[in-house]
Amino acid sequence: MSKHIGILTSGGDCPGLNAALRGVGKAGFDHFDMQIIGFRDGFRGLAQDRTQRIDSTLLSGILTDGGTILGTSRDKPHKMMIGNKTQDMTEAIVDTYQRHHLDAVVCLGGGGTQKNAIRLKDAGLNVVTLPKTIDNDVVGTDVTFGFDTALEIATEAVDRLHSTATSHHRIIVVEVMGHRAGWLGLGAGIAGGADVILIPEIPYTIDNVAEAIKDRARKGKRFSIVTVAEGAMTTDQAKTVAELVEKKDNAQTKAEKKEASAELDLFHEQHVDHTLHLTQRLEELTGIESRLTILGHLQRGGTPSAADRLLATRLGTACAQLLDQGVFGVMVAARGDSSMPVPLEDVAGQTKLVPSDHPWVQSARLVGTCLGD
Ligand code: F6P
Repeated sequence: MSKHIGILTSGGDCPGLNAALRGVGKAGFDHFDMQIIGFRDGFRGLAQDRTQRIDSTLLSGILTDGGTILGTSRDKPHKMMIGNKTQDMTEAIVDTYQRHHLDAVVCLGGGGTQKNAIRLKDAGLNVVTLPKTIDNDVVGTDVTFGFDTALEIATEAVDRLHSTATSHHRIIVVEVMGHRAGWLGLGAGIAGGADVILIPEIPYTIDNVAEAIKDRARKGKRFSIVTVAEGAMTTDQAKTVAELVEKKDNAQTKAEKKEASAELDLFHEQHVDHTLHLTQRLEELTGIESRLTILGHLQRGGTPSAADRLLATRLGTACAQLLDQGVFGVMVAARGDSSMPVPLEDVAGQTKLVPSDHPWVQSARLVGTCLGD
């Protein structure tokens, strides 16, 4: 009997989502007798039963397309804005699942999606996830699809900024995405030969950064490239965040927890322009003209790299095999050239950060890159 599978993409989009959808779909149709129905705009589409029929024709030609043909959103099943009210839509999702006689739902997403998937598993649904995000911060998998493409884009930007920084004898600060993990900033910084790399895992002081740039100037290098992850923090900011997180974790009442969360949110809101502040301070401290480039969503757009197409196809087809075998409640993780199912419990709620002794960190230090600490 054919299996009925639902599929959705959730969280921030990234290159490789369509390749993964195609991988699940083509293998599912051609080898495992599956019927697949897409849900639009992430968990919202599942809650509101907004569907997209998926067949071979729809999947044809999307391997190289960026974004997601299903649309996406950052909606959470248990806290969804409906009108102007936040509602728990878990029951509505269970209804949709049953109405379509689904055997499983496949969720393509990053860290937030893994958490939402486990909520649906707890509500009794068969769930399988695939790990995507340009941040590469999902635990349990060697790598996430989307990361390689973003790394290429950010590295090319650093390369291009080098020539203009050299011509004008300027400091150019390049902000890349990565609010919790610094994989993208570190990778693009090393690959692009940045002189300074600042990531969330290694708090910095502006004085250390300025000193490294002045040292270069003393050696006759009149320009510098500073690659900064959007979540990078000074030592003082990191201390504030650690205190707020501790306050939230130790909160005794709901009100205390709410207050600590609000303070944390406010910190992050006010932190958005920190690279602008850093750029201005570096100009003041070094006397070298400075400019800021924020790469932003450019890093998430466009066609996936060959490596991401390959990874997404590999994980997508492995997902179809697992669905056929009735393996649920797992994320399909990349392991070397292969893949393996990892229980959602081992993935959800965790973030894969850059360890301070990671080989990339060691290499960056060994080629003389300042990490701000
Ligand atoms: O989670 C992926 C990511 O691209 C992060 O690097 C970035 O901080 C965030 O999404 C941006 O989110 P949005 O697209 O909602 O602005």
